[in-house]
Amino acid sequence: MDDLFEIMQTTRSMRRLKPDPVPDELIRKILEAGACAANGGNTQRWRFLIIKDGEIKQAVQMWYKRAFEEVVGPRYATSAPPPGVSPERYKRQHSAVEYLTEHYHEAPVWIVACIDEGTARPTRWSGASIYPAVQNMLLAARALGLGCTLTTRHLLYERETEAAMGLPEGVHSYAILPIGYPMGRFGPVGRGKLSDIVFQDKWGQPYRALN
Ligand SMILES: Cc1cc2nc3c(=O)[nH]c(=O)nc-3n(C[C@H](O)[C@H](O)[C@H](O)COP(=O)(O)O)c2cc1C
Repeated sequence: MDDLFEIMQTTRSMRRLKPDPVPDELIRKILEAGACAANGGNTQRWRFLIIKDGEIKQAVQMWYKRAFEEVVGPRYATSAPPPGVSPERYKRQHSAVEYLTEHYHEAPVWIVACIDEGTARPTRWSGASIYPAVQNMLLAARALGLGCTLTTRHLLYERETEAAMGLPEGVHSYAILPIGYPMGRFGPVGRGKLSDIVFQDKWGQPYRALN
C-alpha cells in the first residue's frame, strides 16, 4: 500500500497478531521511517530498543496485565463509546484490548521508543520529540502490511517495566509497539466529525470551510 492518505485512514490498532516471525528487513524499514521524524532541534535523543527475547517480554507483560486488571479494565467496562464509535465496535475494541493484554509478549517483535534524557527531567517537549517517530513507525508498519499498536500502559508500572527491559539510567520509554502479522484485516479508523473539534478565530465558532 502506498497512498499516504489511505494508509493514515486505515492505521488502526491491530491487537491480534500472529506469532510468525517478522523479517528484520521490514523492522529496519520501520525504524528508518521513525528516524525521519521531526524532533526538537534535530538533537535525535531518541533510542529504539528492539525486544524479541520472550523472557523480557513476559516480564513486562506481567505488569501490563496487572495494570489492566487494576486500572484499564474497570475503566473500559464503565465508559461510553468515544465519538464516531458504535457501542458494538467499542465492545470489540474492549475485547481486542483484553486479547492484547493476554498475548502482549507473543508479538514477535517489540520496538520500545525511548529518549535518552540524561540528567534532564522529562517534559512535554520530550514526548513531542518521540511521538512523531512513533506515528511514522505505525504508518510504516501499516504500509508494509504489519499490525501494530501504540501502547503506553506499561508506564503505570514505569520503574518495574523499565528495569525489566534493562533501560540504563537517564533513558525512559515512551511507547512499546508490539509488531506482527495481523490476524484480521485493516479497516478504517473510527473518529468523530471534524466540525465538532475544529474552530475558527474564536473557540467554539465553526470553521466555515467544513460546512
Ligand atoms: C498515548 C496512547 C496510549 C495508548 N496505550 C495503549 C495501550 O497501552 N494498550 C492498547 O491496547 N492501546 C493503547 N493505545 C491505542 C488506543 O487505544 C487507540 O489508538 C484508540 O483507541 C483509537 O483506536 P485505533 O488506533 O484502532 O483507531 C494508546 C494510544 C495512545 C495514543
